[in-house]
Amino acid sequence: MLRSAEVGPGPLPACGVGEFAALGELSALLAWGAADPADPYCAGHLHCPPLAVAVAADLVAGALNPSLDSWDQAPAATALEVEVVAALAGLVGFAPKAAGGTITSGGTESNLMGLLLARDAAGLGVGRRRILCSQAAHFSIRRCAGLLGLGEDAVVTVPAGADHRMDPVALAAAGRRVLAGNDRIAAIVATAGTTDLGAIDPLPAIASVARELGTWLHVDAAYGGGALFSDRLAPLLAGSHRAHSVGLDLHKLGWQPIAAGVFLVRDAALLTPLAQRAAYLNPDDDEQAGYVSLLGNSPRTTRRADVFKIAVTLRALGRAGLGELVERCHDLARHAAQLIRADPRLELAAEPVLTSVVFRYLPDRHDGPGPAGGAETDRVNAALRRRLLHEGRAVVGRTELGEGPGAVRLKLTLLNPNTTAADLAALLEDVVEAGRAESAPPC
Ligand SMILES: Cc1ncc(COP(=O)(O)O)c(C=O)c1O
Repeated sequence: MLRSAEVGPGPLPACGVGEFAALGELSALLAWGAADPADPYCAGHLHCPPLAVAVAADLVAGALNPSLDSWDQAPAATALEVEVVAALAGLVGFAPKAAGGTITSGGTESNLMGLLLARDAAGLGVGRRRILCSQAAHFSIRRCAGLLGLGEDAVVTVPAGADHRMDPVALAAAGRRVLAGNDRIAAIVATAGTTDLGAIDPLPAIASVARELGTWLHVDAAYGGGALFSDRLAPLLAGSHRAHSVGLDLHKLGWQPIAAGVFLVRDAALLTPLAQRAAYLNPDDDEQAGYVSLLGNSPRTTRRADVFKIAVTLRALGRAGLGELVERCHDLARHAAQLIRADPRLELAAEPVLTSVVFRYLPDRHDGPGPAGGAETDRVNAALRRRLLHEGRAVVGRTELGEGPGAVRLKLTLLNPNTTAADLAALLEDVVEAGRAESAPPC
């Protein structure tokens, strides 16, 4: 564990230690205690190694410090954000000129915005406003429902099929049940890239259900949105243009330093509930004279130019360059799956869809129920992951599929395009070795 004594005089000394000393000391500390996503053995979360060009651009944005809440604090950044939002809207399949959106802090804020607009579009009336999403949707949907005053229990979870995608028939049935109970449906949330398995809900079928039910469709493409850069994977997101709103995170499959979320609406007019007039930021006459601010696109006021690093990256690499990085990570996931399938000590949970691989270690003596074990298998997998962390050898993800004994799984997120096949083989060997150590009978 890190102790404050290790950084000398503490965070707020009476007299400063000087810029070079402070930067040197604390940078060394941060690097020493980093879970560095550029290390191929660090593959536990949807947390990418940022591109050098994006890091450099972020430094430029930090130095110039534009703030996107008013035109006069960020003339160029304002224009850039409008252009980047239009380009990414085009990638989703929205008409770039009609669409709108904003750069966000990430998937959580994008989900909050989508659900806020959906809640307001549903208006007040009889019955509770419900949100329908898959059982594998991100936990932030529930949290956002709470923050928006709908209550976390306004979220109705719809079963996913064997492919871990939301079942549109079950969705339609759940929608009918909500209406039969005299509640209303504020939104359907489809997930394009679930956090663990990367499953992509069947967007065209879900869009049809949303239309039949007359409700807002928000697509949480925080993870999967980056697949739109790749010719090979973009078809997985076909149908996303039928959503009212889409969120995608370029600090996942986009190689940006945090934060780089994007929230898009198919029609800029859908952002109207966020409109604000503040005399000191966007007076009417300034706006009419063409000094149009982005204040009304975001719930935030002061907002850093996270768009700048995104703009530089999109221009530097183009769609093809980013698509190649996406495909390299997808290839890595498929290779890892092949290694896992070939190893009797490991069990693959599902074929990778994007860049994550979910699996578990099988101890020599499996415990019930089922062929691959229950509580003891869970214990060994949880413990082997901690062992790898404790020994500083690897950061492997941990999650659960389903409930009860036998649910624990390990996860490799594989967002580092520079990881090699040899790295993957060695990482999986480390997992097996740690699993063997954790399942060995006590002496
Ligand atoms: C599907 C999905 N949605 C939303 C989020 C939240 O994104 P953020 O952490 O950028 O807020 C995540 C994070 O992993 C995610 O996987």
